[in-house]
Amino acid sequence: MHQSLDSFSEHYKQMLENQLKDNISKLNSPDEIKQSMLYSLEAGGKRIRPLLLFAAMAAFGENPAKGLWTAAAIEMVHTYSLIHDDLPSMDDDDLRRGKPTNHKVFGEALAILAGDALLTYSFQSITETPQEYASADVKLALIMELSKASGAEGMVGGQAADIKGEGKHLSLEELEYIHLHKTGRLLECSVISGAILAKASEDTIKALSDFAYHLGLAFQIRDDILDLEGTEEEIGKPIGSDESKNKSTYPSLLTMEGAKKALSNHIRAAKEKLIETGLNTGLLESITDLIAQRSH
Ligand code: IPE
Ligand code: IPE
Ligand code: MG
Ligand code: MG
Ligand code: MG
Repeated sequence: MHQSLDSFSEHYKQMLENQLKDNISKLNSPDEIKQSMLYSLEAGGKRIRPLLLFAAMAAFGENPAKGLWTAAAIEMVHTYSLIHDDLPSMDDDDLRRGKPTNHKVFGEALAILAGDALLTYSFQSITETPQEYASADVKLALIMELSKASGAEGMVGGQAADIKGEGKHLSLEELEYIHLHKTGRLLECSVISGAILAKASEDTIKALSDFAYHLGLAFQIRDDILDLEGTEEEIGKPIGSDESKNKSTYPSLLTMEGAKKALSNHIRAAKEKLIETGLNTGLLESITDLIAQRSH
């Protein structure tokens, strides 16, 4: 028996929304920085990363609520990465999650600081996990995983390569490096964090990493496709941002048809890897389908 993704997602997303709001409201900080942080956190993201963490815990038969502090941490890192990604010195985008970007509302200085504060708070959030849900050793492992996934060997490294690749014709290998790091690594971290909280074996963690590898590529291929084929209302961000920045993307390298084929191959491979884990992966499978078909 497995629960439908809809009811699961509604329940745990609500917990996450409350957690994020509480985290910001209890900060003893200048009002401007709190408002700027909350603005982007509450702008209506899909919460895919928290859902992956919760679903991974459910696959082990663990109570997903134990992962709330880590899920909030990962969503904070993700939101910080988007605030900085939209800055004039990076992608220079005016719309995010259907609203004006953070720097458009609060100015560049506060947007940079809100990103910094969200990144820093993420590690604090993990430490705030109640002791009965995660021992000090588990918290340390979670912090290590999130640091690696976010930093120069992870998301930041991917973002740097993405910027460096602007205006150049990249090989498929170079493009994969960018996608796996700027996007894949944090998605992988979400799944692996669920496994760490559930005290998974090394072998199971490896199998879930393989799943996340394909999921990450699929996710970013879909992002590239939506940048061309989506509508601004649907995706809540400007269309054609990649082309205007002369970025190599899956459709630009493989044609749109080739990109769609690569997407369905990675989705199939991701699902095969899930089966190999031998876990109760119904919810993770539904999230995988959602990522393949998402229109925003
Ligand atoms: C967008 O991520 C940026 C990428 C890493 C491709 P999401 O599509 O998960 O964005 P939100 O959180 O739903 O806004
Ligand atoms: C952003 O990639 C990835 C991160 C923020 C880490 P994109 O630049 O493709 O994301 P969108 O399209 O602006 O959401
Ligand atoms: Mg970018
Ligand atoms: Mg961008
Ligand atoms: Mg994009």
